[in-house]
Amino acid sequence: MTYDFRIEAADAPTMYRDLAAALEGLVAGESDAVANMANAAALIWETLPDLNWVGFYRNVGGELIVGPFQGRPACIRIPFGTGVCGVAAETRQVQRVEDVHAFPGHIACDSASNSEIVVPIIRDGELIAVLDLDSPRTGRFTEEDEAGCVRLAEILANAL
Ligand code: SME
Repeated sequence: MTYDFRIEAADAPTMYRDLAAALEGLVAGESDAVANMANAAALIWETLPDLNWVGFYRNVGGELIVGPFQGRPACIRIPFGTGVCGVAAETRQVQRVEDVHAFPGHIACDSASNSEIVVPIIRDGELIAVLDLDSPRTGRFTEEDEAGCVRLAEILANAL
């Protein structure tokens, strides 16, 4: 069986709609969280332009620990409240950061990163993980990216 998703949409909402449909297909019927995070990271990496990192930090007993990702090796453990991921985990609010160098406490795992979006993944009131996307391009993530990534996180909430 091969997975060959080619998503070449003209506009961001269409691209995210196609990406969400591809993700739903990819995780359908599979309950293994690591498998689903790994495939989700690969799918997003293959689809979205201008990323240098995409992946997951999991909530393991109130601490974030890196999960499946694409990109350079990353910081392993991040306390809640620290950096962009830690603030997203603590506040349970999407963090969409135009310029990470202006974000207090930003953790620079890859010096190529200039902008970042982190989306909490919540199921039944419990924070399961955060989805983290990094870009070398300042201001890479728009409101359309945020809406699209929130939809991806909703799909993942039932697959992790
Ligand atoms: N920059 C993130 C850390 C994770 S890496 O970007 C992969 C942060 O400040 O939370």
